[in-house]
Order: sequence, then C-alpha cells, then structure tokens
Amino acid sequence: MKLLMIGDVFGRVGRDMLFEQAECGFFGADAVIANAENAAHGRGVTKSVFDELCRTGIDGFTLGNHVWDCPDIQSILKYNDNIIRPYNFEGNVPGSGTMIIKSKSGVHIGVINLMGCVNIPNHSANPFLAADKAVSYLKSRCDIIAVDFHAEATSEKAALGYYLDGRVSVVAGTHTHVQTADNQILPSGTGYISDLGMTGPNISVIGMEKNTVIYRFITGIPKRYEPATGKGQFCAVLFTIDETSGKTIDTERIFIKG
Ligand SMILES: [Fe+2]
Ligand SMILES: [Fe+2]
Repeated sequence: MKLLMIGDVFGRVGRDMLFEQAECGFFGADAVIANAENAAHGRGVTKSVFDELCRTGIDGFTLGNHVWDCPDIQSILKYNDNIIRPYNFEGNVPGSGTMIIKSKSGVHIGVINLMGCVNIPNHSANPFLAADKAVSYLKSRCDIIAVDFHAEATSEKAALGYYLDGRVSVVAGTHTHVQTADNQILPSGTGYISDLGMTGPNISVIGMEKNTVIYRFITGIPKRYEPATGKGQFCAVLFTIDETSGKTIDTERIFIKG
C-alpha cells in the first residue's frame, strides 16, 4: 500500500496546494496524512479551516507545537477522531496522540504524533519512552504504524528513527518546514525522512512574508509576522509499505512548486 505523508500545511496557500493535489489523486496514495499545525494563517487550526481540510479527502491530521494557537482546537480534538496532537504532552490536555485510519484497501494504519524535546518549546515528556508506550498500545489494534515526529533537531529525529526501526513502518519528521534529502529505508525496514518540508508559500521564510523576517533579523525590532502570499509548494513523501510484513519497500520524496 502507498501512504502519503504531507509536511506542515501553512495558511491559505498551503490549503490551496492540498486541493490541487487532491484533484490529481494524491499520487495514487491509498491513505493520506498531513500535518496541520500551521493551517490557519500559519498558526494552529480553526473550526472553519478544519472543515476545509476535511473536504480534501485527507484521512488524518497531525499537529505540533502550534497546536493550541487557536482556541477552537480544544473542541476539534474532543469531537473528531481524524486529528491528533502530540502524544507526549504532559498534563490533562484535550485530544489523543494516536489514531487509527483506514486505507482505501482496508489496511488499518495506526498513527502516532510525537514532539521533540531539543530546541523546541514544549511541555512534553521524553518522546522515546512515550513512543514505546504508544507503539505497544497500537500494535494489536492496527496493521501498520506511522509516526509523525514533530521536532527541531535532526539528531533527535535520526535517533528516534533508529530507535523505532523495525517496530513501525514509517518515522517522518515535521516542524522545520525545510524538506530534507535523506528519505531512506532503515536497516530493519522502517521508512524514514528527517523532515517532510512545508506545504505553503514558496517565496517565504518558512511560510512567513520574507521582508518582515529580514527586518526583524537586522533591527531586532518586533513586527508581526504575516503568512506569505503568492505561489505555493507541496512537500510530502510517498511511502510504499508491504502491509503483511509492515516494512517499507520504497520512499519517494515529493517537492512540487505551484
Ligand atoms: Fe510547522
Ligand atoms: Fe512546529
């Protein structure tokens, strides 16, 4: 089966790119997961944006450090089973960190969203130990498992990839908004990439209007970031997985400019 994992969807431009690829059938994927943490104006998810995302036909959505930016997310997480927040948040927070989606061919895919602890603001527990717990919970409930590891440090992502190698089908990094070229199959069969990249404005600094970001770097004077406009880009990886063994047999990196 083919599982498409889409990097952080950023604002209006990113959402338009999703619809464009949805019309083309998402590269023939049997199931599609997208990280939606920046879908509403670069920050979080509102109710109307979530409804729009659901109309793309994408099967499940993951989040990250921007999860709480829009208050709507608390009820979205409470009432919908196709969107999850990082599993390793501490405290009594709404929503779940795992979900099970079903591919067109009937494969049950367990999805885990985790957040890193290195150089990223968080209130999260150790992602390695949390991953053990989430994998053991999902193992008997689904056919294969895919992980969205929302983290800043490539070292932390690579380490988690090897830590879960052979226990899950995919470990895909998100958060940096810059796609890495290291998509590969790890020794025990887990498909891996350090970062899927961003689906959003192409001429931007990780999604935001570039001149504001340059101004702030030069002057240090606070000025509100606004999402960039103009042409978009679509970033994803298409993982081909043998659902019997759970091993990934191919990874195809996708970077399309709109
Ligand atoms: Fe992001
Ligand atoms: Fe993030």
